Amino acid sequence: MRRREFLALAGAVPLSAAAGPVPAASKLAADPHRPQYHLLPAANWMNDPNAPIYWQGKYHMFYQYNPNGAFWGDMHWAHAVSEDMVHWKHLPMALAPTPGGPDKDGVFSGCAVIDNGVPTAIYTGVNPETQSIATSAGDLTVWKKFSGNPAIAAPPAGMEVTGFRDPAVWKEGDIWLMALGSGFRGKGGAVLLYESKDLRRWNYLHPLVTGRMRAGASAKDPVDSGEMWECPDFFPLGGKHLLIVSTERVVKYLLGSYADRRFQPESTGGIDFGSYYAARTMTNTGDRRILWGWLTEGRNAEAQRAAGWSGVMSLPRELKLVGSQVQMRPAAEVEALRGKRLGAGAAGDCLEIRAEIDPGDAPRAGLKLRAAPDGSEQTLVYYDREQRLLCVDRSQSSTDASADRGLQSGPFVLGRGEPLRLRIFLDGSVMEIFANDRFCLTARVYPAGARSTGVALHASGGTAKMVSFEAWEMQPISPDRLTS
Ligand code: FRU
Repeated sequence: MRRREFLALAGAVPLSAAAGPVPAASKLAADPHRPQYHLLPAANWMNDPNAPIYWQGKYHMFYQYNPNGAFWGDMHWAHAVSEDMVHWKHLPMALAPTPGGPDKDGVFSGCAVIDNGVPTAIYTGVNPETQSIATSAGDLTVWKKFSGNPAIAAPPAGMEVTGFRDPAVWKEGDIWLMALGSGFRGKGGAVLLYESKDLRRWNYLHPLVTGRMRAGASAKDPVDSGEMWECPDFFPLGGKHLLIVSTERVVKYLLGSYADRRFQPESTGGIDFGSYYAARTMTNTGDRRILWGWLTEGRNAEAQRAAGWSGVMSLPRELKLVGSQVQMRPAAEVEALRGKRLGAGAAGDCLEIRAEIDPGDAPRAGLKLRAAPDGSEQTLVYYDREQRLLCVDRSQSSTDASADRGLQSGPFVLGRGEPLRLRIFLDGSVMEIFANDRFCLTARVYPAGARSTGVALHASGGTAKMVSFEAWEMQPISPDRLTS
């Protein structure tokens, strides 16, 4: 069963673990589509980042993981650790479903906080959706589930919700607050606010915020119409508060004011307009807000299963509020991965590229990437002045029929005289694109040709100018594409 169908039905359907044979590690390690410097499991399926936390001098990342193959199901929390947010080491599975327990059908998404020195995870169990607690210590490899689980056994009495999952928890004075992804039938997504003194007994307060679903939408899955919001995250940012939610297959933010446990959104925008979902920020990084997201695949389910792996963690992104603008940049730590510096003529599939482009009179201007010498494959990343969009044209990205060809785009406008400043991270099938510190779009591309590595200026309908260009070969974070 597909993940979306499972979540839509939310019934007591047994998961069929129809796992195919997992490709040998040597095949995975040699797969050119598998990233070299992004975090991903040794094999199989991953989705949402869970509970990213800084603890005892190390960064810990947990994430949704299926040990049975490269398809969604049987959710566990896998675990990796890093000293710098870029070099990762896999650790043993952190959380697995407990037969007969409230998480018997899956350990779904959640967060972690430090409670009086005790690392504490708060996560969702399903069938029905409930919230549970687990605690750990030391290197966070051993977790003990709270005997009173589930801590929250049901939605507030009398409330008909479209979903009830993915807790984000923070502290205000002596009180813990929890934002929970939810929604109201026929109306729209919502984030429910709870409070607790001890992380075990929770008291429902009110919706932190409610949204409006797409008019006339009648999707099978309430997430597809905006009737349900997944994976909320809520935190102060530069004097305001930012709420992040995942719905309608994109990650949105609402920026606003928070007082007396009420949130008043003032503006809204997109966190990433491409193959990116379920974003969540890291706890305990002081004043810095480091955002992580799940880079979804851009090829069909059969190709994912055959490859033996699916899903990648984004690079760490740092969020700041500059004026009224949410600034999004790769965390400075990523620069540690820079190897050989390249100039004009740079080519590759494991690169960081920084380009400043004056679109001139060209209605479309940007870069051509992953281009084959014979023109058979190429991906275009460009600013469309008339449409006021930043676009990725994948129609010729791959000659492989399993790869998505759809145009990806998001609203983006350059000011008068403002150049297009692109910062792009190529890593196998990953293309993480940052534009002018305020726009992100992740594309996944699967060129079939080994020589589809070309980089060039792209302009159509006029003449654009490359103002500056630099690139670096990026150093792999493991000798075997993290397969061990
Ligand atoms: C988001 C999500 C969450 C859920 C998890 C299950 O991608 O659907 O709402 O907790 O994935 O894997």
